[in-house]
Amino acid sequence: MTTDFITFGAPQIQDAEIEEVEACLRSGWLGTGPRVARFESDFARYKGLASTHAAALNSCTAALHVGMVAANLEPGSEVITTPLTFCATANAIIHAGLTPVLADVDPVTQCIDPAAIEAAITPRTSAILPVHFAGRPCDMDRIIQIAGRHGLMVIEDCAHAIETEYRGRKAGTFGDIGCFSFYSTKNVATGEGGMIIASDEALISRAKVLALHGMSKDAWHRFSDSGYRHYQVVEFGFKYNMMDLQAAIGLHQLARVERSWARREVIWRRYNEAFADLPLGLPAPPEEGTRHAHHLYTVMIDEERAGITRDDFLDAMTACGVGIGVHYVSLPEHPVYQQHFGWTPERWPHAARIGHQTVSLPISPKLSEHDVERVIEAVRSVITSL
Ligand SMILES: Cc1ncc(COP(=O)(O)O)c(C=O)c1O
Repeated sequence: MTTDFITFGAPQIQDAEIEEVEACLRSGWLGTGPRVARFESDFARYKGLASTHAAALNSCTAALHVGMVAANLEPGSEVITTPLTFCATANAIIHAGLTPVLADVDPVTQCIDPAAIEAAITPRTSAILPVHFAGRPCDMDRIIQIAGRHGLMVIEDCAHAIETEYRGRKAGTFGDIGCFSFYSTKNVATGEGGMIIASDEALISRAKVLALHGMSKDAWHRFSDSGYRHYQVVEFGFKYNMMDLQAAIGLHQLARVERSWARREVIWRRYNEAFADLPLGLPAPPEEGTRHAHHLYTVMIDEERAGITRDDFLDAMTACGVGIGVHYVSLPEHPVYQQHFGWTPERWPHAARIGHQTVSLPISPKLSEHDVERVIEAVRSVITSL
């Protein structure tokens, strides 16, 4: 890798995070403690909730998993989700003892299509799990309406959608549960990390217990200066708690979340302008009355139009020193789902087509003006040199 390779999704880490991590290391408390508690309350406040409605975990996958376990969904029941998502969405459903059922995406918004959700509902359906893809909100009015009509839970996968809003309401607060990711490439990055929020405080309390071995009191209380406290194991839990070391980064990333969003929006607009005359598919403009989190900027490479295959485009961009991503090859393309559920990509044709054509360009707030121009130059040279 050359030194000036533009890494896809590189987080913007500043002195505030570095100093907070150092202070955390010097404090002697690395595990779940006061910084995690502060991060939870800051995140809850950002979502307009009390801190008792949020629990910081070590990933969004963990949040999805414990959320579904804590929700007491009927074992084996069906959860409807999108085929255009990261495997974690489906795997969490499976590990919670539930059955994933796919509903195709809208070809324009790339988010789950409410009509396809309706068509996938059976007497075994217990929940809908929409993914706010790339940071664009799903059609939550219709999804909540469908859920209400059929008595289904709604679990929002907000891995891309920290800043997302839909008709004045924040992503993660529509359904019963909202799950967020702080993975290194995400809009708030802690290396690995996640958050679960819920309207029901009891669900969050249970998720916290499940996330720490099923112990009734967490380690922070066990070892605090008020004396050792015994714990009881009350659930068959997991090891999903966030560390103070992660929260130390997250506190300052979250404090800058709006500034980072504004920077990504500028890059988004610049890309739109720079690629308008190229034979590429560009992201659909955000819908009126919504806020797009601008997590991913995806272009569609249709070989017939662009004159290059998507995979050759990926290679050419890498050769130009630009790191790119693919979000996502649709879930039914992966062997484990084919073998276990008999899924074939053609059954969800929009997700399959997008999965074959999509390329995510760098849009991190870390990118300098020069980096952005280099990305543009690389795309233009790959497409126009054909
Ligand atoms: C849509 C979606 N859901 C879930 C996840 C899982 O997040 P994490 O890596 O924090 O477990 C990701 C991560 O990339 C994602 O993109």
